[in-house]
Amino acid sequence: MCGIVGFIGKKDASSILIEGLSKLEYRGYDSAGVAIFDGERINVTKCKGRLVNLENKLQEEPLKGTLGIGHTRWATHGEPSDLNAHPHSNEDETISVVHNGIIENYIHLREWLISKGYKFVSETDTEVIPNLIDYFYNGDLVDAVMKAVAKMEGSYAIGVICSKEPDKLVAVRKDSPLIVGLGKGEFFIASDIPAILNHTRDIYLLNDKEFVVMTKDGVKLLSQEGEEIKRDIYHVTWNADAAEKGGFEHFMIKEIHEQPKAIKDTMTSRVMPGKPITLDKITITKEQIENIDKVYIVACGTAYHAGIVGKYVIEKLARIPVEVEVASEFRYRDPIINERTLMIVVSQSGETADTLAALREAKANGARVIAVTNVVGSSVSREADDVLYTWAGPEIAVASTKAYVTQLIAMYIIALFFAENKKTLSESEIEEIKEAMLILPEKAKEVLENKETIQKFASKTYMHKDMFFLGRGLDYAVAMEGSLKLKEISYIHSEAYAGGELKHGPIALIEKGTIVIAGATQEKLYDKMVSNIKEVKTRGANVLGIAFEGHTEIEKTVDSVLYIPEVNDVLSPVISVIPLQLLSYYMAIQKGCDVDKPRNLAKSVTVE
Ligand code: F6R
Repeated sequence: MCGIVGFIGKKDASSILIEGLSKLEYRGYDSAGVAIFDGERINVTKCKGRLVNLENKLQEEPLKGTLGIGHTRWATHGEPSDLNAHPHSNEDETISVVHNGIIENYIHLREWLISKGYKFVSETDTEVIPNLIDYFYNGDLVDAVMKAVAKMEGSYAIGVICSKEPDKLVAVRKDSPLIVGLGKGEFFIASDIPAILNHTRDIYLLNDKEFVVMTKDGVKLLSQEGEEIKRDIYHVTWNADAAEKGGFEHFMIKEIHEQPKAIKDTMTSRVMPGKPITLDKITITKEQIENIDKVYIVACGTAYHAGIVGKYVIEKLARIPVEVEVASEFRYRDPIINERTLMIVVSQSGETADTLAALREAKANGARVIAVTNVVGSSVSREADDVLYTWAGPEIAVASTKAYVTQLIAMYIIALFFAENKKTLSESEIEEIKEAMLILPEKAKEVLENKETIQKFASKTYMHKDMFFLGRGLDYAVAMEGSLKLKEISYIHSEAYAGGELKHGPIALIEKGTIVIAGATQEKLYDKMVSNIKEVKTRGANVLGIAFEGHTEIEKTVDSVLYIPEVNDVLSPVISVIPLQLLSYYMAIQKGCDVDKPRNLAKSVTVE
């Protein structure tokens, strides 16, 4: 988390940094700050709270200059406060630093620096960085940054300016994202592309431990040995508007409406009638697929929920055993991994620290790794053996929606690819699923056209403190995602249960008026699910059923029902999750919550 941005050029740095930070606020928003060189000294303005507070401060007391760095924070070490906000500086304020990541050995470094006479004013790990650079500074900023970085353990993307070298911005990354923007006589660093897209589409993607040295005349990339690195320019083809709200009130609702397109884009040129699944960036061979005896799908949060659907479909269609695990557990539990293991990591951002660590653990033990990610050039995409991009476009709202449905599509694509190679399904069975997939964008549009029912249900129930989501099979997987969405943005406590599990304890919580959302799309499990609905109805629950159009028998059992267009059972999560996303959105709106920036959360979790 945390977003960093930096600028060097001829224009006013302050407005460029603020504009960049506004595009990075999804990464953290508990404080923000900028450091700008005015020709003589570095001036820092920073404050607790949203970016708007910083903007107000800068309006009262503008900072002039054409070189600067900026930061929007998601607190890890030290509470959100003016003092802990970045940029951080050395004592004489000649060196200023913005940082995203965690310096794991900061206590040791801090004590060591204190023993050398250094003073600290904040509670952050970051403050050791300008002081370390100061310690090593001997007239050469790049050399001092390199020496400081050599002492640091942990993750970092940092931007550094120094008033003694006024035409220079130095940056480096390790395990935290950082890109370089290449303009005409102006250059940028940023944690993510949207921050600079109004200024340039040409960027360098950086690898770990690569240093950036920028002046007004150009950019040099250096290895940690100080050797110059040549890098191809990556040209961003997507539109800056794709990262704006485009007439919607919030990014989340815009992104929910973008799902039909995102689903279509993710299938384009991969799922085609009469043709085998085509995966351009996947080099795994038929023999390697045949050799796999276990698949691990590892991810966090919503991406983990997509992985649960992945387990159902890979096991069902390709008959390979699959385990799904949250990355933060997987990485520390000494899992059994070998050359016959395939790991699929799923990550919208491609930068989630735990997911990346799990990927590395798997690779170190000889497993092959496929990354499913939405961000080109992200860390997981670079470190995995194969990459399947989800073409969802930039996802800005903290609550993941369009990334989830495209991750589901990726799971189907992988399952079908394996099924084709292993011949676990006949050609006609594969064709049938592909045809059903290709009409999903239309079906998703239909759900979106029918959102009033959900809106009404939300307006009647938003005051409830607890809700339950029930389902069996794939409906249970979707229930988990619906429950997470509701918690995240409307702060309503909710739980997801497998329908059959309810009677083993949780049913004790059901009382008169308890809201239960019950998914009943799976034909084979339909009757069983209806029995589970009856169990909660008998105890007074108010049940909203979600079923396919035409399956009207459910009306006898539930209080209200939301019909969704019928699709192949195995594909139902792509469609049935949409009403749940809308439900959480409208609940949050009714409650007056900040939908796009829910409390305590950040979009990209690049720390453990
Ligand atoms: C939920 C949400 C998070 C992310 C999780 C993983 O709406 O956005 O649960 O899904 O932090 O993030 P990625 O997919 O970037 O690895």
